[in-house]
Amino acid sequence: MILDLREDDPPRVDEDLDEITLADPEHATHLRGQHHSAELIDLARHAGRFQRALPIERAEVRVGLVQFVGIVGAMSHPFYVTTPIYYPNDLPHIGHAYTSVAADALARWRRLWGDDVVFLTGTDEHGLKIQRAAQEQGISPQELVDRTSEGFRDLTPLLELSNTDFIRTTEARHTAAVQAFLQAIYDRGDIELGTYEGMYCVACEAYYTDDEIVDGNCPIHGRPVERVTEENYFFKLSRYADRLLEHYAAHPEAVQPDGRRNEVLGFIREGLRDFSMSRTSLTWGVPLPWDPEHVAYVWSDALVNYCTAIGYGVDRARFDRYWPADYHVIGKDILRFHAVYWPSMLMAAGEALPRCVFAHGWLLVGGDKMSKTAANQIHPSELVAQFGADGFRYHFLVDQRFGPDGDFSFEAMVARYNADLANNFGNCASRVLNMAVSYCDAKVPDEREDGPLVAATVAAFEGITTALERLAFADGFGAVWELIRATNSYIEDREPWKLHKAGDGAATGAVLGDCLEALRVIALLASPVIPAAARQLWRRLGLEGAPEDQRLPAAAAWGQLAPGLPLEKGAALFPRIDS
Ligand code: MSP
Repeated sequence: MILDLREDDPPRVDEDLDEITLADPEHATHLRGQHHSAELIDLARHAGRFQRALPIERAEVRVGLVQFVGIVGAMSHPFYVTTPIYYPNDLPHIGHAYTSVAADALARWRRLWGDDVVFLTGTDEHGLKIQRAAQEQGISPQELVDRTSEGFRDLTPLLELSNTDFIRTTEARHTAAVQAFLQAIYDRGDIELGTYEGMYCVACEAYYTDDEIVDGNCPIHGRPVERVTEENYFFKLSRYADRLLEHYAAHPEAVQPDGRRNEVLGFIREGLRDFSMSRTSLTWGVPLPWDPEHVAYVWSDALVNYCTAIGYGVDRARFDRYWPADYHVIGKDILRFHAVYWPSMLMAAGEALPRCVFAHGWLLVGGDKMSKTAANQIHPSELVAQFGADGFRYHFLVDQRFGPDGDFSFEAMVARYNADLANNFGNCASRVLNMAVSYCDAKVPDEREDGPLVAATVAAFEGITTALERLAFADGFGAVWELIRATNSYIEDREPWKLHKAGDGAATGAVLGDCLEALRVIALLASPVIPAAARQLWRRLGLEGAPEDQRLPAAAAWGQLAPGLPLEKGAALFPRIDS
C-alpha cells in the first residue's frame, strides 16, 4: 500500500485497498515535489509518528473488515541506521552481536514500511590499540586487521543481518572521506595546533582528566593509564557547548533513552574542553591532509565512517539522500563520542546532526562487562550453534529491555527459547497447520469466523508499531507473542478437533481459517526478529515470496490469506532444547 504523492493527483491506490482517505487532502498538493523542507518535517511531527523528512500523511485505511488509522508514506523514503564500527583487535563477542541484531531488527522493520534502508556496520581499524595488538603478534597492523575484520564480517550470515554495507576504516574510500571532512573543519577554523599532556587509556583510545582516573586506572577498563605529551591539533569543542545545548533542547528525541540524554546534558553543562584530534606518536592512521606528519586520532577518523559510507566527498546527491542518519545505535560506553564530539564535528564541518543516538546498556556475564581480561567473552557462534540465528536474535531482543544493562545466562536463554519459541510459537504453528492439513484437505479453508483474533491482530500491530518507535523491542515483539497466545487460547476455547469430529466442516474451517490468518500476520510481524522461521512459516501457509516483501500497514490488515492456498505441515520450527 504505497501512495506516491509526488506523482499522482489524485493519489494512486493499490487494488487491495478498499478505501483510503487523507486526513487533509490539501497536503497532497502541498507536498508534491518538495523534499527536506522544514514544513515537511513539521507535518510529519504533526502526524505523530515516524518523523521523516519526506511526505507522510495521517490516513485512514480500510482493508477488508479492519480499519487502520496510520501513516501512509510516499514511496521509499530513505532510512539510515548504523552500528558502531567494532575494534577488530579481538574476536567478536555477544556484546557486539547485540548491537548489530538490534540495528538489524530496526532496519527490517523499516523495510516493511517501505523505506529505502541503508544499514551500515563495519570495523574500526586504526589507532594505538590495533598497532600494539599487531606488534604483540609480530605482524603489520594491516595484516592483523585483514585477518580479524573477517570475523566481524562473518556476523552477517551468522546472525542473518541485513546490512547493506560493511565499512573498514582502512579502505581508500574512508581515507579520502576523513581527509575531506577534517579539511572542511580546518578550513572553517575549528582545528588549531597546540600541545597536549594528559593521561591516556589505550583500550578506550581516549584521554582522561585526573579526576576521572580511579587509583591510576582507567574508569572503564580498570587498567593503568599512560602519561602522554605531544604536539597535537585540537578540535575546538569548547565553542560548541551552547549550540549543543540548544540543539538538544529543540530535539529532545536526539539522544535516547531519556536517562542517557540527561547524562549528555550534564556532561556538556560541566564545560567542554577542546580535544586533541591528531597524533604524531603513531603512524597507523589517516594522515592529515594539511600536515601529513600527523595522523587523525582514531575517534576523529572512526566517526566519519557514517558519512563515508553514503558518499561523503564523492557523491553529494547520495549523501544528501541519506544524511542525517536516523539512528546511530550504540552501547552506552561510547555515548560521549556520539552525542558530544560527533555532533560538534558535524556542526564544524557544516553538516546536519544525526536524528537519534540510541545508547543501550551493557550485556553482562555473571554481573561483569565482557572483556578480554575478564576472559568472559562468548562468541556468538557458540550460541547460534545451539539456538540458531533466530533463537539468538529473539533472546537478545526480547529477554531484556533495550536500554538498561542486562545479565546474560545460558539457563535463562534455554528457558525462554523453550517457552516462547518451541512452545508458544512453534506449537501454535504446528498445531494449526497439522489440523488444517488433516481437517481441511491441506488447503486454506473458504470459511472464516472473523472472531476474537481480528481484534487481537489489530492490538498486535498497534503494539509493535508503537513500541518500535522507541526501539522497545521487548514490548514490540511481546505484542506479537500476545497474538500467538490469543491464537492458542482461541484453539483451546473452540476445540476444532471436536467440531471436526461432530462433522461440522464449516465451523472447523472457520476456526482454522482465523488461526491461519493470524499465523500469516504473526509471520509478518515477527519477521524482523526471527526472519528464517518467519519465511518458513510463510511458505508453509502457501504464500508466495517472503514476509520481507510485504508492506505495512496494509499487509497487517485482517483477511488476506486466500482460500485454497496449499498448506504444509513441516518439521518443528524450533525444536525443544534440553537444558
Ligand atoms: N570502535 C569503537 C566504536 C567506533 S564507532 C564510530 C568501539 N568499538 S568496540 O569494539 O569496543 O565496540 C563497541 C560497541 O560494541 C559498544 O558501543 C556496544 O555497542 C558493543 N558492545 C561491546 N561490548 C558490549 C557489551 N558487553 N554489551 C553490550 N554491548 C557491547 O568502541
